[in-house]
Amino acid sequence: MEDITRKLNFLLANLQVQRANLQAVHWNLRGCHSFLTFHGYFGGLYDANTGHIDMIAELVRIHRGSPFISFSRYLRRATISEVSERESMDIEAALNKAFRDNLDIMGQIKDLFASTATNAPDINDYMALMSGDYGKRQWFLTSSMSSSVPAVPKMEEKEEEEEVED
Ligand SMILES: [Fe+2]
Repeated sequence: MEDITRKLNFLLANLQVQRANLQAVHWNLRGCHSFLTFHGYFGGLYDANTGHIDMIAELVRIHRGSPFISFSRYLRRATISEVSERESMDIEAALNKAFRDNLDIMGQIKDLFASTATNAPDINDYMALMSGDYGKRQWFLTSSMSSSVPAVPKMEEKEEEEEVED
């Protein structure tokens, strides 16, 4: 199960960075005619991430692993980049970033779903639940973009280095 807990930890890292990005947009969104709608929507998403983060960390423990806990490690392991204060917080940029972050996580969910069908039904069930949530997010985000859906860059596999204790 070591490989599965490792994959769960990579998902945990992306969920933590995504949560921070969603908070940034929830707080700093500007120049949006539907501010109240999107402020509330992004706030709801980061609340949902909090629930997923807790469950993924607990699944790591259930399967005898140790969840990553430091944010510096999340940033090293995540394929999602963090949003900084310098970035544009207009609605199109925010939707675009949320869309791309979501794609990385959807890829991880599919991979974990495929690799847990027979040996870890609890993880498999949770991946099915997350798949529903993330599919719905993708639908809302793409439906809200004024331009066409951005070209999807191929997801870069992050180099899986040997684990060394920090
Ligand atoms: Fe808030």
